[in-house]
This record gives sequence, structure tokens and C-alpha cells, in this order.
Amino acid sequence: MKRILDLLSEEMGKAFEAAGYEASLGRVTLSNRPDLCEYQCNGAMAGAKKYRKAPLMIANDVALQLGDSPVFKEAAAVAPGFLNLRISEDFLLNMVGTMAEEGKFGLEMPEMPKKIMIDYGGANVAKPLHVGHLRPAIIGESIKRICRYAGHEVIGDVHLGDWGTPIGMVITELQERKPELPYFDENYDGAYPDEAPITEAEFAEIYPLASAKAKADPEYRARALEATRKFQTGVRGYRALWKYIVDVSKVDLKRNYDSLNVEFDLWKGESDVNDLIPEMVAYMKDNGYAHISEGALVVDVKEETDTREIPPCMILKSDGASLYNTTDLATIMERMRLYDPDEIIYITDKRQELYFEQVFRCARKTKLVKPETVLKFLGHGTMNGSDGKPFKTRDGGVMRLESLVGETRDEMYRKIREGREMPEEEARKTAETVALSALKYGDLSNQAAKDYVFDIDRFTSFEGDTGPYILYTIVRIKSILNKYQEQGGKLEGLTFLKAGSESEKELEMALVQFNTMMTNAAEEKAPHRVCAYIYDLANAFNHFYHETKILAEEDEARRGSLIALLMLTRDVLETCIDLLGFSAPEKM
Ligand code: ARG
Repeated sequence: MKRILDLLSEEMGKAFEAAGYEASLGRVTLSNRPDLCEYQCNGAMAGAKKYRKAPLMIANDVALQLGDSPVFKEAAAVAPGFLNLRISEDFLLNMVGTMAEEGKFGLEMPEMPKKIMIDYGGANVAKPLHVGHLRPAIIGESIKRICRYAGHEVIGDVHLGDWGTPIGMVITELQERKPELPYFDENYDGAYPDEAPITEAEFAEIYPLASAKAKADPEYRARALEATRKFQTGVRGYRALWKYIVDVSKVDLKRNYDSLNVEFDLWKGESDVNDLIPEMVAYMKDNGYAHISEGALVVDVKEETDTREIPPCMILKSDGASLYNTTDLATIMERMRLYDPDEIIYITDKRQELYFEQVFRCARKTKLVKPETVLKFLGHGTMNGSDGKPFKTRDGGVMRLESLVGETRDEMYRKIREGREMPEEEARKTAETVALSALKYGDLSNQAAKDYVFDIDRFTSFEGDTGPYILYTIVRIKSILNKYQEQGGKLEGLTFLKAGSESEKELEMALVQFNTMMTNAAEEKAPHRVCAYIYDLANAFNHFYHETKILAEEDEARRGSLIALLMLTRDVLETCIDLLGFSAPEKM
């Protein structure tokens, strides 16, 4: 199904042509004066120069052609040369009907679907998830769902940081506590126990401690680096410990991501490309891409046109150790081999922008990717506290993700309890569902690149531009539909009738923006477009709801048509929140 603005522009183009002007001038946009008109066209202004005519004269000529248009009910030429437009209810009725009938509400599927890999999550093994990992998870999950819905093949990869010093630190602390473990005995050549030498609970406590010790004590830090080198180079006992730590950590990470409704297709990590590194290094050396600089192996990536300093991309440190760059480049190599994606999108904190610029340039220069492979960095801003600084716990520490989710849940529970009677268990479950909407919508309604303030009070409010407001609207629709059925109404076989009021027409106009919005959201990888759309839609619905008798409507056909409109609104809203990564309860 064609997008509404395209249909309107087509009709307008015909009118320009019939009046003797170029059809391309007939581009129609949403009105920026909704008090005056629904849509507008500024083509007469643009044509004035070319046709050496006053814009108002052109607008008048065009308006005359639209006298019996089936699409526009009103086209008024107003000074200095705008065309103010209202569309016909019949045309709208037709669009709404098609939207309800076709799959995906009539969204057109791409002729050439793309294969897109999204690298998001980025949690680090051994460290508990903290609020810094909230944004990439939420944003990446939504972009994945949006692109998939838009008809592309999408693969989400968590790309765990599972090859770094935090693991060395945990090993070092473990050695302090249990030096007798066979892993540390170099002469031991028996099998290692099946059971992990560390429990989940121990784990949560051990890393912060080890990390603090390493900061305070250079000798301890040196040992942690040595332990890191040992597991990386494959020293048997250390590699075995590394494996336990990764496995235990993954259980915890999975639970956290599950609680956020975030699902990865691939649970790969930096370690997965370990075996590829020697091959990649040799390739870069043999082809003259990499050279030694101050002992390290680097690839120059600066370009003539640079206006800022882009340092060389380091492939190996002077001691031969690999680094963040090395694993990212080898991962690109692996992804091209295994999946050959058209696009790879990285979602991390925007402070990694320069880093990714270096990595992308290096990957292009060394031909790890095809010339047409798109490498895209989507940097997100930080989530701040009310002081405008990155969000912290009350005592200034790093906030664990679990605690943040927990606090939001508690606040939501309190608000739900305040609002209505509900059995305890149901209230808890509902609070969980609604809290997720509060967190996610609070995040996603901002442009990803911007910082925002985490305001628990505002985010959990049932009013305003919030997740709970959207859910509240959905629940309201569901409850009307339930009542309608209780009164013997059937949800099948209903027919849409022409809008009977302004507010009904406005609701329909909000609905039919769906495929325009979806196309833009998928092209721009912009979940905030989905948020803006459902906020408008929810507002249009609530306005309509307050102005309209629905269940009390006496004319059966009319009542059926209103119910059909409710169902379509509910379906569109529920689809959209699913794209944002949350869902609605039955009651709240
Ligand atoms: N683990 C990294 C961090 O915590 C994020 C990983 C992002 N993805 C990537 N391919 N580098 O900063």
C-alpha cells in the first residue's frame, strides 16, 4: 500500500500538471498549522521563479483543478501562495480499510532486503551489568526489531567483552583465596573438576574487590595482567578458569538481558576470533598494510581531507598482545566470512566514535570488507542523573542495572497500588510490565545520540509522553473491546464507515501515517520516530474517546465501525510497542 503523502503528492502533481505546471511541484507535507489545515503544499512558492508568476496565482490555478478531486475535499490558495488542504473522508476510509486488511498494515517490503548485523549489548564478562549497558541494549534491541519488521534479515550479536583484564583480575583474586586449586599448579596434568571453582554470588563480590585492589596496588595489577596473558595465550589451568568465569558470567548476563526483554541471536564474544588473529596479522603484514611503529604494529588511517587528528590503528602492542582494535577487526573478518552482511551496525557510547572511525577505516583500507559493505557507528548519549552527570547510585557508586530495574519496578508498583484495587500478585506482574515500558520509552523517545536525564517520577507517570501513558491507552481500548463482547458484540465481520466527526477523522489521519513513519524509522534506525508516532496516535485516540459515544452508539453499523477503528488502533499500538521492546498488560 502506498504511503499517504505519496498518494496526496501524486494527486497534487496531477493538478499542477493540468494547470500547466510541472508535476514535481506538487509535493504534499503534513500541515505545520494544524489549526488551519490537515496537509499543505508549498509548490506554488517554489514554482514562482520558474514561471515568473506570483505564487498566489499559481496556487489559485492549481486549486481550481482540484474542485472535484476524490482525494482533497478542500484546497485553498492562501497568501502568499500556500495550498492549504483537507482530505476527503472517503479517501481516508479507503486507506484505513486497506491498512486493516493488508499484512503489516500495508507497509511495503523492500525489493532487495538487506542482511544487517547489529552489534549491541557489549557487556563485559566478570563485571556485573551496570546502567552504562542499558542504552545500547535497549536501543539495539529496538533497531533490530524495526529493521526486521521493515523486511530485512537482521542478526543481533551481543559481542561480549570476554577477553580482557577483568577476567585476569578475578583469576588473581581467586588465587589469593584458594592457591591450592589445581588450576594454578603448572605440573598438574589431570582433568579439572566439572564444577566451577566459583559461585555466582562469590563472583558478584569478587570483581569489584579485585578491581579496587589492582588500582591501589601495582604489584597486584601486574599479577592480574600476567594472569590475563596466561589465559589469552592458552596456559591450560588459566584457560580452564577463564572458561568457568565466562560460563558463570553468561548466566547472570542472560538473566539481566531477559529481564529487559532483550534477545541476541548470537552470543559471540571477543574470544571467538582469537584463532583468527595470527592469520589476520600475517595478511596485513604481507600486503604491506601494517608496519611497525615504536615497536607496535599499526595501520595508518589518516586521510588528506581530515580536519582532526586520526591516529593510526594499532593492531598489536609492542609486547605482541592483541587489543580491543585487534578483536574488532578480526570480528569483522569473521562476520564477512560467516555471514557476509550488507551492513554492520555498532551501538555503543558515542565516546567510542573516534575508535570506530579508526577501525572502519582500517577495515576498508585492508579490504577486510567489500567496498559496498556499510559499516555504521550509532553512538548514544549518556543517561544522566538529575545533576546532569552520568547516573550514579545515591552514594555516588556505579549503579547496577538490576538495581535500576528494581527501583523502577518498586515505584511502578506503588503507583499501581495507589490507583486501583488489584490482587498482590497481579499488581507485581503488572508493575513489572509497566516498569519496562517506563524505562524503555523514557530512553527511546529521545534521539539516541543525545544525553537524557533519568527521571523516575516522570518516566513512571501515567500522563504525558511516557511508556505508561501509551500502555494505559492500550488497556483502555482493550477494556472497551471486552465490554463490547460482554454485551454480545462480535469482533469479526465489522465494516469501516466514513469518519463521523473531526476527532474520528483525526484518529484515522494519525493511523495512516504508519507506513511513512515505519519507512523513516527503519531507514534512519530511529526508534524515537516510533515513540513520536504512538504518542500522537494515543493522543488522537484519547481525544476521540472523550468526544465519542462508543458502546452507547445506537446505530449498530456505526457502533461496529467504531469498534473496528478501536481494534486497528490497538493492533497498531501493540505492534509499535513490540518494536520498542515492551508489551502491554491486560489491566492496569
Ligand atoms: N565491551 C565494550 C565496552 O564495554 C563494548 C563492545 C562494543 N562492540 C564492539 N564491537 N566493540 O565498552
